[in-house]
Amino acid sequence: MSQLLDILESKYPIIQGPIGELNDPKMVAAVCEAGGFGMLALGFIQDLDTIKKMIAEIRERTDKPFGANLMIAMNPANEQILEVLAEAGVKTVTTSAGAPQRIYPKIHELGMKGLHVALDFSFAVKAAKAGADGVVVSGYESGGLRTLKPESSNMVLIPLVCDHVDVPVVAAGAIADSRGYRAALALGAQGVQIGTRFLSSAESPAPQAWKEAILNCPEGGTTVLPVGGMGVRVIMNARLAEKMKDPNVDLSEEYNMMNMGKAWRSGQFDLFPPGAGQVSAVVTKIKTVKEIIDEMVS
Ligand SMILES: Cc1cc2nc3c(=O)[nH]c(=O)nc-3n(C[C@H](O)[C@H](O)[C@H](O)COP(=O)(O)O)c2cc1C
Repeated sequence: MSQLLDILESKYPIIQGPIGELNDPKMVAAVCEAGGFGMLALGFIQDLDTIKKMIAEIRERTDKPFGANLMIAMNPANEQILEVLAEAGVKTVTTSAGAPQRIYPKIHELGMKGLHVALDFSFAVKAAKAGADGVVVSGYESGGLRTLKPESSNMVLIPLVCDHVDVPVVAAGAIADSRGYRAALALGAQGVQIGTRFLSSAESPAPQAWKEAILNCPEGGTTVLPVGGMGVRVIMNARLAEKMKDPNVDLSEEYNMMNMGKAWRSGQFDLFPPGAGQVSAVVTKIKTVKEIIDEMVS
């Protein structure tokens, strides 16, 4: 068994990529039952009762291990959330968007393990030094938050990070099927984190318009939208394409991060375009998470 599977205790080293606030306990349980590691996305949720309710709903459907993602700099309730998770028997979390040294002492004090999400080489090495039990390495092609600096793709990042850290590495970005899964393992990763593919699955709580945007996304159809000093990888739509043509338009004024959750939950993508990775171009069918995982490990 790999070090990563020792930590996750799932059948396969396949982690459900957390998606903002888009949680559905049924989907988390479906990923676990299919052999993956289901995840709650708790980056922006502060209400502990909501979290306890979601955990109870997962537990009604599966007795398999699952985890949760915490966004370090975005949520003042992280320490209390960790206590709720530990009490419910959650053993592993992922952490992102912030300095790991702020949270790993608490994770370890509660007897839990944590995998830190790093968007580049230096942060992956720093996270391992700061006590992370593993790193989730997310290359330029990946969905989710990006930096606005020049970035590397996973073909470069994964082997580089594997050569410089002693903890298990998980590849996140552009993995949609067995080809991507095997490629990630060949590059040295012990597992994968899947965002876009699960976001477009049958069980995903994303609105149908979001799933269709992924299915219809052509190659080259995503871009990194600058907002609030960060980037978010999104699928281009007519409004965004129009704005991008005008050199006088400041995109970070046109699109406000505060509208992101509303747009994504409702499918009102003129407010904020749908988030997804470059791999959308490869996703052409909605499948169940079980079908996706079965094919991936086949
Ligand atoms: C719309 C969207 C929202 C995301 N939100 C989060 C998040 O809240 N926390 C996090 O750590 N990663 C987040 N991610 C990153 C995913 O969990 C995952 O690492 C990434 O999508 C993998 O790349 P892929 O989409 O190419 O599979 C998000 C990704 C997407 C597409």
